[in-house]
Amino acid sequence: MRALTVLPGQQGSLAVTDVPDPEPGPDELLVEGLAVGVCGTDREIADGEYGWAPPGRDRLVIGHESLGRVVRAPSGGGFSPGDLVVGVVRRPDPEPCGACAHGEFDMCRNGRYTERGIKEIDGYASELWTVETGYAVTLDPRLADVGLLMEPATVVAKAWEQVEKVGSRAWFEPRTALVTGAGSIGLLAALLGVQRGLDVHVLDRVTGGPKPGLVADLGATYHHDGLDAAVRAAKPDVVIEATGVGELVFGAIGSTAAYGIVCLTGVSPAGRNLTVDAGTLNRDIVLENDAIVGSVNANRNHYAAAADALAKADLSWLGRLVTRRVPLDGFADAFDSRPEDVKVAVTLGS
Ligand code: BGC
Repeated sequence: MRALTVLPGQQGSLAVTDVPDPEPGPDELLVEGLAVGVCGTDREIADGEYGWAPPGRDRLVIGHESLGRVVRAPSGGGFSPGDLVVGVVRRPDPEPCGACAHGEFDMCRNGRYTERGIKEIDGYASELWTVETGYAVTLDPRLADVGLLMEPATVVAKAWEQVEKVGSRAWFEPRTALVTGAGSIGLLAALLGVQRGLDVHVLDRVTGGPKPGLVADLGATYHHDGLDAAVRAAKPDVVIEATGVGELVFGAIGSTAAYGIVCLTGVSPAGRNLTVDAGTLNRDIVLENDAIVGSVNANRNHYAAAADALAKADLSWLGRLVTRRVPLDGFADAFDSRPEDVKVAVTLGS
Protein backbone atom coordinates (compact mmCIF):
# COMPACT_ATOMS: atom_id res chain seq x y z
CA MET A 1 0.00 0.00 0.00
CA ARG A 2 1.00 3.64 -0.35
CA ALA A 3 2.00 5.81 2.58
CA LEU A 4 3.46 9.25 3.07
CA THR A 5 6.83 8.67 4.72
CA VAL A 6 9.81 10.74 5.77
CA LEU A 7 13.41 10.26 6.87
CA PRO A 8 13.30 12.21 10.14
CA GLY A 9 16.04 14.81 10.31
CA GLN A 10 16.36 14.96 6.55
CA GLN A 11 14.77 17.88 4.80
CA GLY A 12 13.19 17.07 1.43
CA SER A 13 12.80 13.36 2.20
CA LEU A 14 8.98 13.34 2.40
CA ALA A 15 7.66 10.97 -0.30
CA VAL A 16 4.87 8.59 -1.17
CA THR A 17 6.42 5.14 -0.72
CA ASP A 18 5.22 1.55 -0.83
CA VAL A 19 5.04 -0.07 2.58
CA PRO A 20 3.72 -3.49 3.63
CA ASP A 21 -0.01 -3.67 4.41
CA PRO A 22 -0.48 -3.58 8.19
CA GLU A 23 -1.69 -6.71 9.98
CA PRO A 24 -4.03 -5.96 12.89
CA GLY A 25 -3.25 -7.66 16.19
CA PRO A 26 -6.02 -9.40 18.16
CA ASP A 27 -7.10 -6.18 19.88
CA GLU A 28 -6.64 -3.90 16.88
CA LEU A 29 -8.82 -2.39 14.20
CA LEU A 30 -7.90 -2.45 10.53
CA VAL A 31 -8.82 0.97 9.18
CA GLU A 32 -9.03 2.45 5.69
CA GLY A 33 -7.36 5.86 5.85
CA LEU A 34 -9.64 8.61 4.53
CA ALA A 35 -7.56 11.71 5.18
CA VAL A 36 -4.97 13.31 7.42
CA GLY A 37 -4.71 16.95 8.38
CA VAL A 38 -1.37 18.72 8.00
CA CYS A 39 -0.18 21.00 10.80
CA GLY A 40 2.94 22.93 11.78
CA THR A 41 4.43 19.86 13.44
CA ASP A 42 4.10 17.87 10.20
CA ARG A 43 5.80 20.69 8.30
CA GLU A 44 8.61 20.75 10.85
CA ILE A 45 9.06 17.00 10.43
CA ALA A 46 9.11 17.42 6.64
CA ASP A 47 11.72 20.15 7.08
CA GLY A 48 13.95 17.77 9.04
CA GLU A 49 13.58 19.72 12.30
CA TYR A 50 11.50 17.29 14.37
CA GLY A 51 10.36 13.67 14.36
CA TRP A 52 11.85 10.26 15.14
CA ALA A 53 11.67 7.02 13.12
CA PRO A 54 10.54 3.77 14.77
CA PRO A 55 13.46 1.91 16.38
CA GLY A 56 15.48 0.00 13.79
CA ARG A 57 13.88 1.81 10.86
CA ASP A 58 14.87 4.80 8.72
CA ARG A 59 11.50 6.05 7.57
CA LEU A 60 8.49 7.15 9.58
CA VAL A 61 4.93 7.17 8.24
CA ILE A 62 3.84 10.73 8.99
CA GLY A 63 0.33 11.96 9.93
CA HIS A 64 -1.23 12.33 13.36
CA GLU A 65 -4.49 14.16 12.51
CA SER A 66 -6.29 11.04 11.37
CA LEU A 67 -9.64 10.05 9.94
CA GLY A 68 -10.53 6.58 8.75
CA ARG A 69 -13.23 3.97 8.34
CA VAL A 70 -13.07 0.61 10.10
CA VAL A 71 -12.57 -2.32 7.71
CA ARG A 72 -12.20 -5.08 10.30
CA ALA A 73 -12.80 -5.06 14.04
CA PRO A 74 -12.37 -7.72 16.75
CA SER A 75 -15.72 -8.98 17.96
CA GLY A 76 -16.96 -7.54 21.23
CA GLY A 77 -14.57 -4.58 21.07
CA GLY A 78 -17.28 -1.98 20.54
CA PHE A 79 -16.35 -1.20 16.91
CA SER A 80 -17.93 -2.36 13.64
CA PRO A 81 -16.87 -2.23 10.01
CA GLY A 82 -17.95 1.09 8.52
CA ASP A 83 -17.47 3.08 11.75
CA LEU A 84 -15.79 6.46 11.31
CA VAL A 85 -12.78 6.58 13.63
CA VAL A 86 -9.77 8.65 14.59
CA GLY A 87 -6.68 7.29 16.30
CA VAL A 88 -5.23 8.79 19.46
CA VAL A 89 -1.76 10.28 18.86
CA ARG A 90 0.24 9.53 21.99
CA ARG A 91 1.08 6.27 23.79
CA PRO A 92 2.35 6.12 27.37
CA ASP A 93 6.02 5.64 28.11
CA PRO A 94 7.04 2.00 28.82
CA GLU A 95 8.00 2.57 32.43
CA PRO A 96 5.29 4.05 32.93
CA CYS A 97 5.77 7.31 34.80
CA GLY A 98 3.11 8.29 37.33
CA ALA A 99 1.16 10.43 34.89
CA CYS A 100 1.17 7.77 32.16
CA ALA A 101 0.17 5.14 34.73
CA HIS A 102 -2.88 7.30 35.46
CA GLY A 103 -3.92 7.58 31.79
CA GLU A 104 -2.50 11.11 31.63
CA PHE A 105 0.03 10.27 28.93
CA ASP A 106 -0.37 13.84 27.65
CA MET A 107 1.38 14.88 30.87
CA CYS A 108 4.22 12.32 30.61
CA ARG A 109 7.02 13.17 33.01
CA ASN A 110 9.99 11.29 31.56
CA GLY A 111 9.59 12.17 27.87
CA ARG A 112 9.73 8.54 26.77
CA TYR A 113 6.17 8.63 25.41
CA THR A 114 5.72 7.79 21.73
CA GLU A 115 3.48 9.56 19.21
CA ARG A 116 1.99 8.22 15.99
CA GLY A 117 3.40 10.00 12.99
CA ILE A 118 5.78 12.04 15.15
CA LYS A 119 7.84 10.05 17.61
CA GLU A 120 8.88 6.44 17.03
CA ILE A 121 5.57 5.00 15.83
CA ASP A 122 4.09 5.14 12.35
CA GLY A 123 1.37 7.67 11.76
CA TYR A 124 -1.89 7.58 9.90
CA ALA A 125 -0.98 8.90 6.42
CA SER A 126 -1.38 5.52 4.75
CA GLU A 127 -4.10 3.82 2.74
CA LEU A 128 -4.60 1.33 5.58
CA TRP A 129 -3.64 1.57 9.24
CA THR A 130 -4.18 -0.34 12.41
CA VAL A 131 -4.96 0.99 15.85
CA GLU A 132 -5.53 -0.59 19.26
CA THR A 133 -9.23 -0.45 20.18
CA GLY A 134 -8.27 1.41 23.36
CA TYR A 135 -6.72 4.20 21.30
CA ALA A 136 -9.48 4.53 18.69
CA VAL A 137 -12.39 6.93 19.03
CA THR A 138 -15.65 6.57 17.09
CA LEU A 139 -17.00 9.72 15.47
CA ASP A 140 -20.57 10.69 14.65
CA PRO A 141 -21.11 9.72 10.96
CA ARG A 142 -22.19 13.34 10.35
CA LEU A 143 -18.54 14.31 10.83
CA ALA A 144 -17.36 12.33 7.77
CA ASP A 145 -16.12 15.47 6.00
CA VAL A 146 -14.65 17.25 9.00
CA GLY A 147 -13.53 14.45 11.34
CA LEU A 148 -9.88 15.22 10.64
CA LEU A 149 -10.44 18.30 12.82
CA MET A 150 -10.86 16.00 15.81
CA GLU A 151 -7.16 15.86 16.78
CA PRO A 152 -6.62 19.64 16.77
CA ALA A 153 -9.92 19.93 18.66
CA THR A 154 -8.53 17.60 21.36
CA VAL A 155 -5.48 19.84 21.76
CA VAL A 156 -7.78 22.81 22.23
CA ALA A 157 -10.13 20.92 24.59
CA LYS A 158 -7.12 20.22 26.77
CA ALA A 159 -5.96 23.85 26.60
CA TRP A 160 -9.37 25.09 27.80
CA GLU A 161 -9.42 22.45 30.54
CA GLN A 162 -6.01 23.67 31.70
CA VAL A 163 -7.22 27.28 31.74
CA GLU A 164 -10.24 26.28 33.81
CA LYS A 165 -8.15 24.23 36.24
CA VAL A 166 -5.65 27.05 36.71
CA GLY A 167 -8.50 29.55 37.02
CA SER A 168 -10.22 27.52 39.71
CA ARG A 169 -7.47 28.33 42.24
CA ALA A 170 -9.55 31.41 43.19
CA TRP A 171 -12.78 33.10 42.09
CA PHE A 172 -12.86 32.84 38.29
CA GLU A 173 -15.60 34.06 36.01
CA PRO A 174 -13.76 35.05 32.82
CA ARG A 175 -15.62 37.23 30.34
CA THR A 176 -13.18 37.80 27.50
CA ALA A 177 -10.68 35.65 25.67
CA LEU A 178 -8.08 36.53 23.09
CA VAL A 179 -6.84 33.86 20.72
CA THR A 180 -3.62 34.63 18.87
CA GLY A 181 -3.48 32.91 15.48
CA ALA A 182 -6.42 31.96 13.28
CA GLY A 183 -5.13 28.60 12.07
CA SER A 184 -7.08 25.48 12.96
CA ILE A 185 -5.93 25.50 16.60
CA GLY A 186 -6.79 29.18 16.97
CA LEU A 187 -10.20 28.93 15.32
CA LEU A 188 -11.13 25.79 17.25
CA ALA A 189 -9.97 27.52 20.45
CA ALA A 190 -12.25 30.42 19.52
CA LEU A 191 -15.13 27.99 18.92
CA LEU A 192 -14.69 26.41 22.36
CA GLY A 193 -14.43 29.89 23.91
CA VAL A 194 -17.71 30.94 22.29
CA GLN A 195 -19.28 27.67 23.43
CA ARG A 196 -18.32 28.72 26.97
CA GLY A 197 -20.20 32.00 26.56
CA LEU A 198 -17.07 34.20 26.38
CA ASP A 199 -16.57 37.35 24.34
CA VAL A 200 -13.86 36.01 22.02
CA HIS A 201 -11.33 38.03 20.01
CA VAL A 202 -9.02 36.45 17.44
CA LEU A 203 -5.79 37.99 16.16
CA ASP A 204 -4.11 37.05 12.90
CA ARG A 205 -2.12 38.87 10.23
CA VAL A 206 -4.22 38.29 7.13
CA THR A 207 -7.04 40.52 5.95
CA GLY A 208 -8.24 38.30 3.09
CA GLY A 209 -9.31 34.69 2.74
CA PRO A 210 -11.72 32.81 4.98
CA LYS A 211 -10.34 33.68 8.44
CA PRO A 212 -12.13 37.02 9.09
CA GLY A 213 -15.49 35.55 8.01
CA LEU A 214 -15.01 32.38 10.05
CA VAL A 215 -14.37 34.47 13.17
CA ALA A 216 -17.32 36.78 12.48
CA ASP A 217 -19.65 33.81 11.92
CA LEU A 218 -18.77 32.53 15.39
CA GLY A 219 -19.95 35.87 16.81
CA ALA A 220 -16.33 36.67 17.72
CA THR A 221 -14.22 39.71 16.76
CA TYR A 222 -11.38 39.49 14.23
CA HIS A 223 -8.25 41.66 14.59
CA HIS A 224 -5.46 42.00 12.05
CA ASP A 225 -3.76 45.18 13.19
CA GLY A 226 -1.41 43.84 15.82
CA LEU A 227 -1.45 42.64 19.41
CA ASP A 228 -1.72 46.06 21.05
CA ALA A 229 -4.94 46.94 19.27
CA ALA A 230 -6.40 43.49 19.95
CA VAL A 231 -5.51 43.70 23.64
CA ARG A 232 -6.98 47.21 23.96
CA ALA A 233 -10.27 45.92 22.56
CA ALA A 234 -10.33 42.59 24.37
CA LYS A 235 -8.76 43.26 27.81
CA PRO A 236 -8.45 39.49 27.94
CA ASP A 237 -9.05 37.40 31.05
CA VAL A 238 -7.74 34.43 29.07
CA VAL A 239 -5.30 34.23 26.17
CA ILE A 240 -4.89 31.09 24.12
CA GLU A 241 -1.63 31.57 22.23
CA ALA A 242 -1.59 29.46 19.07
CA THR A 243 1.29 30.86 17.02
CA GLY A 244 4.46 30.17 19.02
CA VAL A 245 5.75 33.56 17.83
CA GLY A 246 7.94 35.06 20.57
CA GLU A 247 6.63 38.62 20.29
CA LEU A 248 3.06 37.38 20.66
CA VAL A 249 3.89 34.98 23.49
CA PHE A 250 5.60 37.65 25.61
CA GLY A 251 3.25 40.39 24.44
CA ALA A 252 0.26 38.32 25.53
CA ILE A 253 1.81 37.51 28.91
CA GLY A 254 2.29 41.23 29.54
CA SER A 255 -1.18 42.34 28.55
CA THR A 256 -3.81 40.23 30.29
CA ALA A 257 -6.34 41.62 32.74
CA ALA A 258 -5.58 40.96 36.44
CA TYR A 259 -5.69 37.23 37.30
CA GLY A 260 -5.08 36.66 33.59
CA ILE A 261 -4.26 33.21 32.31
CA VAL A 262 -2.16 32.66 29.21
CA CYS A 263 -2.20 29.17 27.77
CA LEU A 264 0.67 28.51 25.37
CA THR A 265 -0.04 25.89 22.70
CA GLY A 266 2.33 26.83 19.89
CA VAL A 267 5.53 24.82 19.55
CA SER A 268 8.30 27.08 18.28
CA PRO A 269 11.74 26.25 16.91
CA ALA A 270 14.72 26.94 19.16
CA GLY A 271 17.03 29.88 18.54
CA ARG A 272 14.54 32.75 18.36
CA ASN A 273 15.86 35.61 20.50
CA LEU A 274 13.87 38.53 21.78
CA THR A 275 14.59 41.44 24.10
CA VAL A 276 11.96 41.73 26.81
CA ASP A 277 11.56 44.06 29.79
CA ALA A 278 11.86 41.26 32.32
CA GLY A 279 11.26 43.62 35.24
CA THR A 280 7.91 44.88 34.02
CA LEU A 281 6.86 41.43 32.91
CA ASN A 282 7.68 39.86 36.27
CA ARG A 283 6.06 42.71 38.20
CA ASP A 284 2.81 42.41 36.18
CA ILE A 285 2.62 38.66 36.64
CA VAL A 286 3.20 38.94 40.40
CA LEU A 287 1.02 41.96 41.12
CA GLU A 288 -1.86 40.56 39.04
CA ASN A 289 -1.64 36.90 40.16
CA ASP A 290 -1.32 36.05 36.48
CA ALA A 291 -0.58 32.51 35.33
CA ILE A 292 1.08 31.05 32.28
CA VAL A 293 0.53 27.43 31.42
CA GLY A 294 1.89 25.33 28.59
CA SER A 295 -0.33 22.66 27.08
CA VAL A 296 0.47 19.89 24.62
CA ASN A 297 -1.24 16.81 23.26
CA ALA A 298 -4.42 15.29 24.72
CA ASN A 299 -5.58 12.21 26.60
CA ARG A 300 -8.76 10.19 26.11
CA ASN A 301 -10.85 12.59 28.24
CA HIS A 302 -9.93 15.39 25.87
CA TYR A 303 -10.99 13.25 22.90
CA ALA A 304 -14.42 12.91 24.54
CA ALA A 305 -14.59 16.67 25.22
CA ALA A 306 -13.54 17.43 21.64
CA ALA A 307 -16.16 15.07 20.21
CA ASP A 308 -18.81 16.93 22.26
CA ALA A 309 -17.57 20.32 21.08
CA LEU A 310 -17.57 19.24 17.42
CA ALA A 311 -21.03 17.69 17.78
CA LYS A 312 -22.39 21.02 19.12
CA ALA A 313 -20.71 23.09 16.38
CA ASP A 314 -22.22 24.19 13.10
CA LEU A 315 -21.17 21.57 10.53
CA SER A 316 -20.89 23.97 7.64
CA TRP A 317 -18.66 26.28 9.73
CA LEU A 318 -16.42 23.30 10.54
CA GLY A 319 -16.37 22.37 6.84
CA ARG A 320 -15.06 25.84 5.99
CA LEU A 321 -12.02 25.23 8.22
CA VAL A 322 -10.80 22.63 5.73
CA THR A 323 -9.57 25.12 3.18
CA ARG A 324 -7.78 22.71 0.84
CA ARG A 325 -7.97 18.96 0.18
CA VAL A 326 -5.04 17.53 -1.73
CA PRO A 327 -4.75 13.92 -3.00
CA LEU A 328 -1.86 11.82 -1.65
CA ASP A 329 0.18 12.26 -4.85
CA GLY A 330 -0.03 16.03 -4.49
CA PHE A 331 1.24 16.02 -0.87
CA ALA A 332 3.91 18.64 -1.67
CA ASP A 333 1.17 21.17 -2.28
CA ALA A 334 -0.37 20.38 1.10
CA PHE A 335 2.94 20.95 2.88
CA ASP A 336 3.39 24.32 1.20
CA SER A 337 1.64 26.49 3.76
CA ARG A 338 -0.18 29.65 2.69
CA PRO A 339 -1.15 32.46 5.08
CA GLU A 340 -4.86 32.11 4.33
CA ASP A 341 -4.93 28.33 4.90
CA VAL A 342 -6.75 27.06 7.94
CA LYS A 343 -6.55 23.27 7.64
CA VAL A 344 -5.13 21.49 4.64
CA ALA A 345 -6.02 17.82 4.27
CA VAL A 346 -4.26 15.07 2.36
CA THR A 347 -6.89 12.64 1.14
CA LEU A 348 -5.90 8.97 1.14
CA GLY A 349 -8.54 7.19 -0.93
CA SER A 350 -7.47 5.91 -4.34
C1 BGC B 1 0.36 17.32 18.13
C2 BGC B 1 0.44 16.76 19.51
C3 BGC B 1 1.87 16.41 19.85
C4 BGC B 1 2.77 17.60 19.64
C5 BGC B 1 4.22 17.36 19.99
C6 BGC B 1 1.34 18.44 17.97
O1 BGC B 1 1.29 18.91 16.65
O2 BGC B 1 -0.94 17.78 17.86
O3 BGC B 1 -0.40 15.63 19.60
O4 BGC B 1 1.95 15.99 21.19
O5 BGC B 1 2.65 18.03 18.30
O6 BGC B 1 4.81 16.30 19.30
